[in-house]
Amino acid sequence: MSDYVISINGEFIPPDKASISVLDHGFLFGDSVYEVVRTVHGKLFAADRHLRRLHASAAALAMPLQRADDWFLEHLKEMHKRASWEESYLRVIVTRGVGELDLHPASCASQTVVGIAKPLPQWPHDSYAHGCKVVLANVRRNPKQATDPAIKSGNYLNNVLAIMEARNEGATEAIMMNVQGFLTECTTSNVFLVKGGVVRTPALRQGLLEGVTRGFILEVCARLGLACEEADLRDEDLHNADEVFITSTTRDVMPVGTVGERKLPFVPGPVTLKIANAYHEMLEDPANHQ
Ligand SMILES: Cc1ncc(COP(=O)(O)O)c(C=O)c1O
Repeated sequence: MSDYVISINGEFIPPDKASISVLDHGFLFGDSVYEVVRTVHGKLFAADRHLRRLHASAAALAMPLQRADDWFLEHLKEMHKRASWEESYLRVIVTRGVGELDLHPASCASQTVVGIAKPLPQWPHDSYAHGCKVVLANVRRNPKQATDPAIKSGNYLNNVLAIMEARNEGATEAIMMNVQGFLTECTTSNVFLVKGGVVRTPALRQGLLEGVTRGFILEVCARLGLACEEADLRDEDLHNADEVFITSTTRDVMPVGTVGERKLPFVPGPVTLKIANAYHEMLEDPANHQ
């Protein structure tokens, strides 16, 4: 098994001994929410934003968090403290808890909190130097009116299907459209297009996760004075873009070199590079560290 630090309800347990009940509704129904925080120089990066989103996800499932923010913050720090590597990927999962074998959560009294830490993934240098490959998935993002993709829940089957499509085509990521044919996001990242110097990313109303990194990039664009908009984008916008990049907590700003079979002309493009550099300054900014 890979190197992990694992906790259940705050107690650290060896990975091969860590287990939860088969009657946990997180296991039975995907009835759970989660967050992934990364460290920078051993400090939590943007943990306040991640905690805010964890609250929002939990509220959307009518399962207000039973533990305080300070508990989560201290626990995330403790997870990293116990790690033997330099920078961590810290996942915290909150499930509805153990209950009866019944969809309704009335019998679930105590939420289960699982912590999983692993080394921060190192994406291939080549993906940043020459861009990664993405494909447009056949599987569609579930609509906001179903399980809203804005909820970071344990229910990722759509994304699982899409990432399998991507890997079958030798791609790093799959961009998903919604059922109306508008671009939404990738399986674990958000997507940005640049056309004629204007930066555009799918609007939240199309149904997608409000990525923490996406939020930083919108702030970066404003700070750099770049024209930037959240928009209703179609596949032709993707296919006509001058530059494309994807963003996430672990990837930062990753340029896209190939969309399906189309190679983009300049990778990384000048606007992508400017944004990536400014984002790296935000990563280094102690104001964003906890
Ligand atoms: C579906 C989805 N979209 C976007 C993102 C990127 O979000 P963030 O920048 O907060 O990591 C993720 C992260 O895992 C995700 O799962």
